[in-house]
Amino acid sequence: MSSFYSKLFAKLYDKFMVSFEEKIGKDRQRMLKNLTGNILDVGSGTGVNFAHFNTKVHVIAVEPSKPMLDKSVEKINGKNIELLNLDINDEKLHQTIKENSLDAIVSTLVLCTIQNPDLALENFKKWLKPNGKLIIIEHIHSDKKRKAIFENLLNPLWKIFAEGCNLNRHTDVLIKSKGFKPLEEHYFTIGLRIHKGIFVLDK
Ligand SMILES: C[S@@+](CC[C@H](N)C(=O)[O-])C[C@H]1O[C@@H](n2cnc3c(N)ncnc32)[C@H](O)[C@@H]1O
Repeated sequence: MSSFYSKLFAKLYDKFMVSFEEKIGKDRQRMLKNLTGNILDVGSGTGVNFAHFNTKVHVIAVEPSKPMLDKSVEKINGKNIELLNLDINDEKLHQTIKENSLDAIVSTLVLCTIQNPDLALENFKKWLKPNGKLIIIEHIHSDKKRKAIFENLLNPLWKIFAEGCNLNRHTDVLIKSKGFKPLEEHYFTIGLRIHKGIFVLDK
């Protein structure tokens, strides 16, 4: 059963994100609009990415929070988007997503929250076709010493209010340690340090 807070979080998410979206919305659009084929949107949340997918793609949107998933229904707008109320590491997903079947995996602001990002990335490796793309927009631990300490101190409280999100993960390092190579990669700071890019595997 969804908790009261999860419902509230889903209701307010898009409003919380307005100023953040003003800064990263163009990146979402640029990296998503030309994707083709079968796409997995991981932790699709309230469906912020849906507007940027073109009408020809088939998207599997996986989201474990029912209130977030319900909010995303209104953003489908007739596109070929299949919603699944599952954790990305749920064994059941392996019945739906076959090995080497995906043209792209979209992971925006979600590796900060997934309980086992290591396992998720291993699954991404299995599911992507050779030359399949991993699209990343993620906030990561600051590279500034004082800010990094502050993020470490704030993290336990932040995690409670932000539904499991962590301020101090180095997911950029993890992604590359799994063998993903950047086709493009950028770092910038908008309050939080952001890592974005398009990655491919040597398969
Ligand atoms: C900050 S929101 C990002 C939503 C969306 N991707 C975006 O870019 O706006 C993080 C989402 O990841 C989802 N999430 C958390 N753990 C997950 C998991 N293990 N598998 C899939 N999604 C997960 C949360 O429920 C939440 O909707």
